[in-house]
Amino acid sequence: MQKFVINGGNRLEGKVKISGSKNAVLPIAVAAAILGDNVSVLHNVPNLTDVNTLSAVLEGLGASITRKNGSLYIEPINRMEYEAPYDLVRKMRASIYVLGPLVAKLGRAKVSFPGGCAIGPRPVDLHIKGLEHLGAKVEVKKGYIYAQAERLKGSKIDLFGQHGPSVGATANVMMAATLAEGTTIIKGAAREPHVYDLAQFLNAMGADIKGIGTSTLTINGVKQLYGTEHTVISDDIEAGTFMVAAAMTNGDVSVEGIKPQQITAVSKKLIDAGIQLDWYDTGVRVTNLGELKAIDVTTAPFPGFPTDMQAQIMGLLSIASGKSTITENVHTDRFIHAAELNRMGANIKLKGSKSFIRGVPYLSGAPVMASDLRAGAVLVVAGLAATGETTVSRIYHIDRGYEEIEKKLNNIGADIERVNTDI
Ligand code: EPZ
Repeated sequence: MQKFVINGGNRLEGKVKISGSKNAVLPIAVAAAILGDNVSVLHNVPNLTDVNTLSAVLEGLGASITRKNGSLYIEPINRMEYEAPYDLVRKMRASIYVLGPLVAKLGRAKVSFPGGCAIGPRPVDLHIKGLEHLGAKVEVKKGYIYAQAERLKGSKIDLFGQHGPSVGATANVMMAATLAEGTTIIKGAAREPHVYDLAQFLNAMGADIKGIGTSTLTINGVKQLYGTEHTVISDDIEAGTFMVAAAMTNGDVSVEGIKPQQITAVSKKLIDAGIQLDWYDTGVRVTNLGELKAIDVTTAPFPGFPTDMQAQIMGLLSIASGKSTITENVHTDRFIHAAELNRMGANIKLKGSKSFIRGVPYLSGAPVMASDLRAGAVLVVAGLAATGETTVSRIYHIDRGYEEIEKKLNNIGADIERVNTDI
């Protein structure tokens, strides 16, 4: 196991380059490996454990994947494997992405039912509902989802769930519908930048998807999709995390490779909290000129404030003057990081899906533990801003979604070291 040892208090200054989006590359690699008939090349692919885990799932299905200099060369599946086993799916919920494409391409799929995780229960009812609307027979037996259909048929589907649109269900059903017979209309579709990027990739493969970036997608099914070349969109959540790190350390950091429209809601909240943002052609300069101000934040599907930035903004608000609130509307239990921030001196109280934050003048270094990816990210950022030494354990969570985080942070003035531990 490894941990981060952080000596806090340094002001972050300089330029940081954002990597490709984890949440875009995962479904795009699935589409390339299962739906395509020949090789695809993906550029700007971050080197992350989640990408490697997904590659193992796809290789298990018969695809062949090679990484070279930040690009993935994906040769699609060449045999009739249609099972994604528990051992791989349990490592990463996004493996559920293979369900729709496998039924569309091979007529059947057997995918381990993904369980809940540290951020709460994560049902897949909308994925199943969508595939059933396309004519698949779906059964859940002994921990597996079985889906079958000779050829999927276009249909009208509303994917708006209890917590709004679902990123995963939209991606899964959209991928399946590209090879269905006839037209599919998805209402209540997710509009996140990574869903947009996946749709662009599918169209480049020969799919016919209209309404990309809106909540209604119209997909005219085609008979075949072809390999293509694609540069993955940059990671808005990684960018947001570095923006918060700059803000919390009184920093002056240029975050390179992000566009304002990818990160509007986060930008707006940072400005409300007193941060200066200066956008230029290739990125944004983030400067903290003075005191951080308390604000209220409510998470919501895109274009709302992303749940994947909730932990990080909590870190920032823990040292903003005044009382802030955060309402978590997407993953309503996603607050484990609050207790760890309190161990560093924050004053955060929880009630249901709401958190109440009374700003403290500073955080103090402490040993803390990452419980999931973004909870891990906020502990690193808080450690940079805190006085003294912070150790963050279980950093394998962080490695799932942040490429070379300590190298990028050290380049802009942080003092953070990766250390091997016995446990
Ligand atoms: C994606 O997960 C992301 N993961 C998550 O990022 C992110 O938190 C989430 O979208 C919301 O933006 C990937 O893209 C790989 P959802 P996903 O389906 O697709 C409910 C990170 O930190 N729901 O959009 O699993 C669900 O419980 C990760 O990078 C149903 O009710 O999320 C939640 O409340 C963590 N039924 C809401 O919808 C379903 O069938 C949104 O979930 C599916 C979801």
